[in-house]
Amino acid sequence: MTHSTLVSFSLAQRILHWIMAALIVFNLLVTDAMEEYANVFFGGRTSTPDQVNAANIHAYVGITILVLAIIRLCLRLIQGVPAEPKEEPALLRFVAKTSHWAFYALFFVMPFAGIGAYYFGNKTAAFAHAGPMKLVMWALIAAHILGALVHQFYWKTDVVKRMTSGVR
Ligand code: HEM
Ligand code: HEM
Repeated sequence: MTHSTLVSFSLAQRILHWIMAALIVFNLLVTDAMEEYANVFFGGRTSTPDQVNAANIHAYVGITILVLAIIRLCLRLIQGVPAEPKEEPALLRFVAKTSHWAFYALFFVMPFAGIGAYYFGNKTAAFAHAGPMKLVMWALIAAHILGALVHQFYWKTDVVKRMTSGVR
């Protein structure tokens, strides 16, 4: 839902955006323990308790992302989000909207695939999680940061401000 009367994201939405961004980047970068666990598990061997403990960090961070995504989606449906600025060409406004929903899809699908791989030993889920989903997440983040930079320095809109300090 887009509310043309809104100028900013709510404080709760802003806090959730940045906590989730940090947790997602953490899980994208800190993967050694989970990859080692998966190698041992899918190689048919038994992991040590230390390996399981280390892998659990990735799993719990990922499940936290899933839980926060549910809260964030509810807030989005209840509070709405500000409309894309008029300075932005219509086609790119559509691209922004679509990629924001693609992020939301990944916030759910990626943890579920991870759960399928980790707790149910599903190989297809593991492949989807570590392959295509990881790639799409990185691509969206790269495009997202580029979009924020173009807003800030080219169209000179207050889009970054409405996700940081907020616009009054
Ligand atoms: C949005 C949240 C998550 C992100 C961004 C994420 C990201 C990643 C990344 C980047 C890898 C390494 C892929 C590679 O290069 O090999 C990975 C592997 C893995 N993750 Fe996640 N993860 C998330 C949530 C979860 C959750 C909730 C679980 C389980 C409860 C999980 C279980 C796994 C497993 C089992 C692997 C190893 C897969 C394999 O190599 O076969 N992940 N994850
Ligand atoms: C893993 C990292 C990130 C993810 C997953 C992410 C995800 C999202 C999503 C889904 C939205 C749509 C608004 C909503 O419904 O909550 C959004 C908005 C926004 N993000 Fe990010 N974000 C990330 C990192 C960043 C970074 C690093 C920046 C700064 C360069 C940034 C700046 C913004 C801004 C300015 C908006 C507001 C756009 C608007 O007003 O329509 N994000 N982000």
